[in-house]
Amino acid sequence: MNDNTKESGEHSFSFGSIDNFDEHIDQSIPHYSTMNNNIVALSDYFIDEETNVYDIGCSTGKLLKRLKVGRNKTNFIGLEINENFTKDFIQEKNLSLINKDLLEFDDFHNASLITSVFTLQFVPQKDRQAILEKIYNGLNKGGAFIFSEKVIAKSAKIENMLTFLYYDFKKKSFSEKEILDKEIDLRSIMKPVTIEDNFIMLKKAGFKDIEIIWRNFNFLSIVAIK
Ligand SMILES: C[S@@+](CC[C@H](N)C(=O)[O-])C[C@H]1O[C@@H](n2cnc3c(N)ncnc32)[C@H](O)[C@@H]1O
Repeated sequence: MNDNTKESGEHSFSFGSIDNFDEHIDQSIPHYSTMNNNIVALSDYFIDEETNVYDIGCSTGKLLKRLKVGRNKTNFIGLEINENFTKDFIQEKNLSLINKDLLEFDDFHNASLITSVFTLQFVPQKDRQAILEKIYNGLNKGGAFIFSEKVIAKSAKIENMLTFLYYDFKKKSFSEKEILDKEIDLRSIMKPVTIEDNFIMLKKAGFKDIEIIWRNFNFLSIVAIK
């Protein structure tokens, strides 16, 4: 193995150490900006005055900033484990950042909307049901959880196709080595499940109205209403 090759087991990966994170994620997820536009459009049905809106794994805070436009009487709160994003997240009167691990955060309350964009997949599978129950309990009646996740297909044949179509997409912005190194970075921390398993967990948490609102390859967004 030569010096340029990353070995399995090197766990140095951190989202906060990626330069130009917003550009990086845009190049890493097909039609990421369309997906974000869809979440912003759908949010109008849920965000109320005098309530809280949380974004879990908010990174630079760009989604919250968009949700906040024209809304001075709603409180927007970002939750982010990685402290490196603090410099990018400009806090304002009704826009704040909580640097904390989602697993240790127990204060979702009076929420009209909770979002999470490609973050739950990094929560250990054993903790995911409890997290969804915390989210459900923190929402007001009629409030929504809108989240995006990478999923795995039920069929191995289709999973293989979608994975390689995804690599075709990534090759537009990244070298083969960068693509493979990222796979090694993520294999110990990213645990996607099937759409069906996400729906089962959401229903068990109490959500009744659940729908996929956007999908491209193995990336999708779901709305779940309390
Ligand atoms: C793939 S990134 C997506 C970031 C952001 N939602 C976006 O679309 O730009 C996943 C984010 O979740 C954060 N994260 C991962 N595990 C977390 C946890 N347990 N608690 C809070 N944030 C977490 C990471 O630091 C990272 O910012």
